[in-house]
Parts: sequence; structure tokens; C-alpha cells
Amino acid sequence: MTDQIELAAANDGVASWRAELSTCNHLSPRFAQRYAILFAEAAAHAVPERVAQARSVAASHPRRALALLLGTDAMPSARSNRRWKIVRRGSDAELVEDLLAAGDLDEVLAGQPDLEQTWVPLHPDRHAKLVATPAGTRVALRWQAMSLTPRAEHQSLMADVVRDASERSGVPIEVWDDYTVCAGEGPHVWTFTANLGTTVEDRLRAVAHGAPERQTLVGAISALRAAMVGHGVVWQGFAPRNMFYVNGRLLLIDFEEVVRPERNPQRAAECLLWHRVFFADGLTERERLSVFGGEADRFDGIPDDLVLPADPFERTVLDSTTVTWMTRVALLAESTRLEGAHSRSGPTARGPVLFGHELGHFWGDFVPPQIEAAIFRGLSTVQSAADLAAAMEVFEAAMEADIMRWLRSRAAGTGESGTPYTEAAADCLTDHGAAALQAARDCSGAAWYDRLDSDPCGLISNVLFSVAAAPDADRTDGLIGQPGQAERTRLALQRAVSLGVDFTHRHDRGEPVLRYAGNDELRAMFSAALPHDGSDLATLFDETARTLVPHSILQSHPGYLAFPDSANSVAAVAGGLLGKLLNQNLIAVDRSAPAATFVEIQTIAWLRELAGYATRPLSEMAGVKDVGGLWTTGGHLSNHVAMLAALGAMFPEARRGGLRTLDTSPAVIMAGPIAHYSHSDAAFHLGLGWGAIIPVDARPGYTTDVDAVEKALINPPDGRTPYMVVGVAGNCRTTGLDDLAALADVCRRHGVWFHVDACHGGSLIFNERLRTRHLAGIAEADSISLDPHKGLFSAYPSSYVLFRDPRALTQLSRHDALVMQDDCWDLGLVTPFLGSRGFESLATWMMLRHLGVRRVGELVESRQALVRYLARRIDASGLFIALNDVDFYRLAFVLCPPEARALVAQCRGEARGRAAKAVSAFTSELNTLLYREGEVCFDEHTLADLGDRIGAGTTTSYSVMAACPGNPALTLADLDRAVERLVAAARPAAARLIAFLAEEITTMPVNGHGGPAGWSD
Ligand SMILES: Cc1ncc(COP(=O)(O)O)c(C=O)c1O
Repeated sequence: MTDQIELAAANDGVASWRAELSTCNHLSPRFAQRYAILFAEAAAHAVPERVAQARSVAASHPRRALALLLGTDAMPSARSNRRWKIVRRGSDAELVEDLLAAGDLDEVLAGQPDLEQTWVPLHPDRHAKLVATPAGTRVALRWQAMSLTPRAEHQSLMADVVRDASERSGVPIEVWDDYTVCAGEGPHVWTFTANLGTTVEDRLRAVAHGAPERQTLVGAISALRAAMVGHGVVWQGFAPRNMFYVNGRLLLIDFEEVVRPERNPQRAAECLLWHRVFFADGLTERERLSVFGGEADRFDGIPDDLVLPADPFERTVLDSTTVTWMTRVALLAESTRLEGAHSRSGPTARGPVLFGHELGHFWGDFVPPQIEAAIFRGLSTVQSAADLAAAMEVFEAAMEADIMRWLRSRAAGTGESGTPYTEAAADCLTDHGAAALQAARDCSGAAWYDRLDSDPCGLISNVLFSVAAAPDADRTDGLIGQPGQAERTRLALQRAVSLGVDFTHRHDRGEPVLRYAGNDELRAMFSAALPHDGSDLATLFDETARTLVPHSILQSHPGYLAFPDSANSVAAVAGGLLGKLLNQNLIAVDRSAPAATFVEIQTIAWLRELAGYATRPLSEMAGVKDVGGLWTTGGHLSNHVAMLAALGAMFPEARRGGLRTLDTSPAVIMAGPIAHYSHSDAAFHLGLGWGAIIPVDARPGYTTDVDAVEKALINPPDGRTPYMVVGVAGNCRTTGLDDLAALADVCRRHGVWFHVDACHGGSLIFNERLRTRHLAGIAEADSISLDPHKGLFSAYPSSYVLFRDPRALTQLSRHDALVMQDDCWDLGLVTPFLGSRGFESLATWMMLRHLGVRRVGELVESRQALVRYLARRIDASGLFIALNDVDFYRLAFVLCPPEARALVAQCRGEARGRAAKAVSAFTSELNTLLYREGEVCFDEHTLADLGDRIGAGTTTSYSVMAACPGNPALTLADLDRAVERLVAAARPAAARLIAFLAEEITTMPVNGHGGPAGWSD
């Protein structure tokens, strides 16, 4: 409704300007309409005085009127004093003499209105002006000086032709020759002549079929064509736009090319074919027969396979530098079809016909050949007349819009500006096909013509949009955010949630941790061709429920004891899901993550507070400079960021110049046997190299040997400068907890960065008692990494890295000044390795808000009992040896009953190694059996027996089973079930192991893979 009111108001404005221009007889109706639209548009924003001024000159000088409305009328003109003189005198010579007295002709004429009598603007290289003189308007044309002589010669060649044609038709036909020519010093001349009025082209389009005037005119044109062919004089410009029917006389202009067939039969034949194109939209079928049907267009002796150099258009259409005569003829015939008269679909102010050549003429003069070729190629595929007319109407709208744009930019003095609408329409045609254009046109129905006459730019913009991008039901099916589709979206997402919840509760249905399938089977299951055509969501969900879900591992299953990544906090999972729907980009505040940024910063502040770092309330922070922590994708990345921050802080010069500017190799000290591989990865990824890690020993209890660290600090290898020590709160193999206070003390004394990898142990900060007991000294660390997706019941990905001094974070940014500014909150400025990233912190925020620190602490504490219970039960079975004493949540053990241990101890030399391998092999076999069964799932990795509990030496590594019950929802019954299944499966394995060791210790393959926990540093 509003649209219609607006359209009506706009039409009123256009109509009033149109009335203003009605007195203007030197503008074609088309141009008058175009100017009226432009005036209405510009006047809406112009001050009243300008509008009044514009009205006063609109009819006499539309370009100036438009410039007045646009405020670009005061353009200074460069003065020149070129001398002009008359070199040929016509009947207007005296008027021209007066004009010459007025100053430089180029300048005087630049101030005159353009000749806009035809429907299509003149070729941009050709200049034609209307000159008002006391004796009426005259036309001034700019020609190349060089063209004067050939024009005169060609005109004289036409003398016999026109005489003959006049006699045959009874209509006086004349080569118009009444020109006064002025030459200056430049390469062009100005030619003055009478204003001959409307071209025959526009007249043929306007005058009713069957009208006597039309019959006379067509008769004269037929006679002229026949005479040309008869006399062997082919005027290339035999086109209705070069003809004027004035007072019963047919006047001809523009003789740049006249061809003699006996000299150049092929060019002559080609011109004759072009004539058909020129007249394609102006004649009825009968008239066409009368003009072109009388004689052959071909001259004898042009073989079909004659090879000719291709013109630019042909070159692009054919993608070839040559063209055969036959192909050229075919192309011209197709142009004649496209440029013919097409019946419009409804009544329109423009009449029932769309004039194809009007478009062809415009394309030829204004559109680059590649675009013209694309239009030609696209439209040539359309056979039905109605479809072709619809597609052509789209190009008509594009042409109108381009002409308007051209008029506007000319008046604004911004120069000619190409043909973007037509180009865009051509692109659409190429990309989506003519049917899409035609459909877009048909959608607009009869309103099309109103808009064409009032707002062609808006009209074509809508069409282009709807063809290329507009939502249609098919394309947008499944896109969130479609108006009115909330319920559909909700249902689809509910199905996903329901599938996921069924998965997380699979044990209620007696289902295992996972339905095991080997890698070959899984590959076969998911190997599929690229899905070019999609499937509906219901099918997709069904398929997923059958394949992906059962073969996924459920880490919160009561039988899952491998990792602590249970992801079963409802609030955290809900936050994760909601975060996906909110889809905020935490790279920046404005336009990306306005509220989410502060939720994340608040979460970081809470974690800092729990870690014991000094923290300001969010409400008192001034910007990222106060944040002192980051969310990352995991402990791996958090450890990278910490190593990078430490490097920047300890070697500030490397921030700009890189490592090569340092005169030493920065090195990192950590306990090799328990280090997570992320640290050596980081050393490599940061350019320090794996060799930058100085490994020191771990103590038998799988914690960092603090004395060994100090020794390495005092006496590092040559050329290395230790700048960072990594302590671990919960190492990846046994979750042993380092003596952080002692390490902090050593680091402080030696002035190096102390990083605590608390990816596992971080959960202990939520419980006062556990923090005091296990993490004493953590607040003295320079950086801490901790992973909610490990021990804090949150789904991947979720990790944080915290810095004691928030400046450690700001120095990560190249934008030193900006990040220190108040109110700069863009986290992307200080986040290394990541650009755009999602709102993953919402999970932790929701979890903390929902459970509260106390409850989280209770859950963490209650979990301590789980692994201890398991350890005792496993020990009591007498079948296993634990390699570690649990102080957190992971127990590493091997299958090794006392009898087996005794046998191992008896072995010497190589035999002992083989015995150890047998222990590994039987342990691994047992573990694999359980894993594939799916009832209970333990982890597996390699571990050196630092305490020599098995008796094959402290450097011997084993494949171990690991129990890591991190899920606080596990019950005693769950653990009992797991132990029972473990023991039942272990008994026969233990017997076989004993038998094996007793009989003969032979070499046997060991499953050396293990999981990430065992990936060595
Ligand atoms: C001690 C330690 N640090 C870092 C990591 C890496 O964490 P993520 O796998 O989340 O990147 C782990 C993973 O187990 C780990 O145990």
C-alpha cells in the first residue's frame, strides 16, 4: 500500500515535469519522459529557487535544468581562443558567421542543448547540438575533418540512385547537402544544418500501419533500395535513422561509407544484410517484403566458406579471430530476428510493440562487445515470441535505466559512466538463463509499464535482484530467519535436540558407550559422492540416527571411563546451543558481538578471580587492557598463546623483528615424561623449533622434578636461554599435580615466565579445599591454561588462558595504542591465531550462573571419590598393577597379576624387554576387547614405569589402560559394573599372560598407537 502511494506521488511529480517539457519540440517523447523522471527525482532534494530556475529552462535546455537541480551548473569552462573559419558555405552560412563572432565554437556549442530527438541517444563519440538562432533552431554536428572529402565523393556516387528512385516512387528523394562547415585547428569540424526533425526510424515506429503517409514512405524506401542494387551503389547507411521525411521529400544523411559491389562484393552484400537489421523493427511483414524481397542480397561469387577477419562482436560470440561468410550471414539473420518488433504482453503507453532494433542500436553504441555478445548468445536460445519479448523487456528497462544514468552523470559532470544495468542484466542472462529473466518480468504483470515510465532504475534493480538473489521457496527452504517460519525452524532444531538427547541417554535403553565399527566399515558407511542435490531434513535426520549417532562415543555414558570430557552440564550444553543460534562474532564489539563480548569478559574475570589473580569488576574495567584472559579452542591453543605471550614479554624485541633478531635461542623447560605434546607443537609453530624444549626428569610420582628444573635454569645447554617453565596441574597421563609453589619460587628466583598447564587441574579452583591442597602457588603463575571441556562438564570447544598481568595480553596486539585506549573492547585485537569466532563462552557463563561456584566445587570434589574407588577395586582384583597413585582423577594400570610380575622380575637383558612387551600386548588386547564390546571404555596410551612397579626398570614404557572417571554423575553401581566387566575379561587374559611368560618370552607385536594422552612430547 505504502509502495503504491509512493509510486503515485512519484508519478505526479514526473507528470508535472512532463507537462513542462510538452512544449519542447526538440526532445523525442522518450527523452522528455526520461528528463521528467530525472527532474522529479532531483527536484525532491533541491531548494525551491533552484527548482524554479530549472523549470524556466527545462524545455529549452534540459541538461542545464538538470544541472541546476543537481547543483552542478556552475562548472567553469576552459577558455580557448581557437580560430574557426567557414570552409563550406550552406544556406545557414550567415547565421554561422554570427555564431563565430560569439567566441570559440567548441565553447559556444558546449553551452547548447543536445540533440535528443531520436529515441536512442547518439553514439557517445558523436556530438550533435541544437543551436537556437533568430531564424529558428539549427543542428550542429561534430565530424572528423578527414571525413569531409569521402562524404562528398560518396554523395556524388548516390546522384543517379536517388534520381532513379525518385522517378520510380514519385517521392522526391535527396541526399541532404545543405551544410555549412567550420574548421578550427583541431581534427574535427562543426557542420551546421537545418533541424530535419523526426527520423524515419521513429516515424515508422509511430505512424499507424496502413496510413497513406506510411505507404508513400515505404514505397520511396523500396525504390531507393532497388535503385541502389540496380546501380551497384550500396550505401552502408541505408538505415531509417539516416532518413527524414520532410514536406513530402525523403532526405538522406550520413554518407561515411558507400560500397561498389564490383570492387568489394562481400562488403556490399554484408551492408545489404545490415540494412535488414536497421529496418528490422520498423516495417510490417508486407513492408519488409516490399523493401527487401525484390532482389537477391547476395552478389555472385561469395563462397560460403570464405574466411574473413572477425569483427569485435563476432570475435567474442565465436571466440575466434575469423568468421566464415556463411556464419556471418547466419549471425546477421539472427540479429534481424532479435532486433525485430516484439509484441508486448499488455497495454502500455509505449504502444503494443517493443522495438528490438532500438535496443540493438543502443547496445551497438553503448555496450562493450563482450556484453553485447553475451546478450546475443542468451537471447538466441529463446524461440517462443512471447518469451523473447519478455526477456527483451528486461533489457529495455536496463537500457532506460542506463540512459537515465548517463543523462544524470553528464549533467552532474561526473563523466560518462558505462552501462552497468545492461551489463548486469547480461550477466543475469548468462548465469540464470533467459527463462529466469522472463519469469522475473512476468511476475511484475501490468505494473511493469508504469514503473518503466516512472522509475526504470528501480524496476531493473528489482528484476536483477529477484533473478539473482530473491528468496524463493526452494532456495530458502531450511534457512533460519524466513519470515513466518519460526515454527518450522523450531521443529527442525527440536528434532536435532531430540536426536542429541536420545544419544546422551542411550544407556536408558541399555545401549553401549558406542556401537563399535572398524575404520574400514565406517569409511564405507560415510563415503559418498558430493551431494549435488540435497535431501529433506527428515530424511537426513533419519539417516543420521541410523549411522552417525550409534557409532558416536558417549562420554557421559556410565560405562565411559576414558576421559573426563563428559559435557553433561545441561546449562553448559544449552549455552553452547544458544550460542550457535545467537551466532555472535567475538572478534569485535560493534556490529559483531555487542553483548556477548561482555559476557565473555565477565566469564574470564570470574575464572581469574577463582585462580587467585587480582581482578577488577567488569563494571570498573576500562577496556581490553584490563581483561587479562582469552577464550580459545582448547588447551592446545591456550598453551600456544601462553608460550607466545611469554616470548613477547621476555623478548619484546622479537615482537617486531622476529626471532632472528635475538642473539640467543629462547628455550622452554618442562618435564619430558609427563609433558603434553601441545607445548612442543607450540615451540615448533612459533618458530622456536621442537629443539627449544629442554626436557627434564619427572619424579616417580609423575610430577615435575623441581630440582631438575632449577639445574636446567642454572646450566642450560649452550646458546639457549630458558625463558619459560611449564608446570602441570594434572598431566595428561596420570593427572599428577606438580608442586606449583615450588616451581613458582624457582621461576621467580631465575626471572623466567611460569606457565601452569591446568587444562585438567583447572577444575580444582572451584573447590577451596582442593585448590589449597593441590594448587597452592597457582596464583603466582604468569599464565594458566584451563579447559572447561575437560573437567568442567562442558562441550567442546572450551578453554581459557589467563594472565596474571593483563599487559601480557595487550602486548599480543600490533595495535599498541589502540588496545590501551579506554573503551576499546575488541577481543579480536588481542586474540592470536583466531579471527572470527563464535560465542562459546556462553556455555561456561551459563554453567557458572546455573550451578554456581559452590555447586561446581562440590561436583569436582565428589568426583575425587570415583577414581579412588576404582583404584581400590582394581587393586583388590589382584590382576593389575597401577603405575600411579591417584591424586586427581586418572589411574594408569597394566594387566599384571603377581605371578606375572614375578616372572618379569626373573627376566634378564633382552628377555626382560620382551616380557614388558608381553605385558603391554595383553593389556592392550584386553582393553581393545572391552572397547569393542562397548559396555565399558578405558583409555589407552603409553607410559614409562617411573616407579619401577612392574620391575622391568624405570625407563621401560608400557601400553597402559587408564581410568579417568571425570563424569560426576557416575554412581557406585556404574563403577561396580565397570570393574566387574573388567575383571571378568581380565581373568582369562591374565592366565594366558602368565602362561606365556612362563613358557617362553618371544617377540610379539605391540599395539603402539594409544590415544592422545600418550602422544609423546
Ligand atoms: C595437560 C594437558 N594440556 C593440554 C592439553 C590439550 O588440550 P586440548 O586437547 O583441549 O587442546 C591436554 C589434553 O589432554 C592436556 O592433558
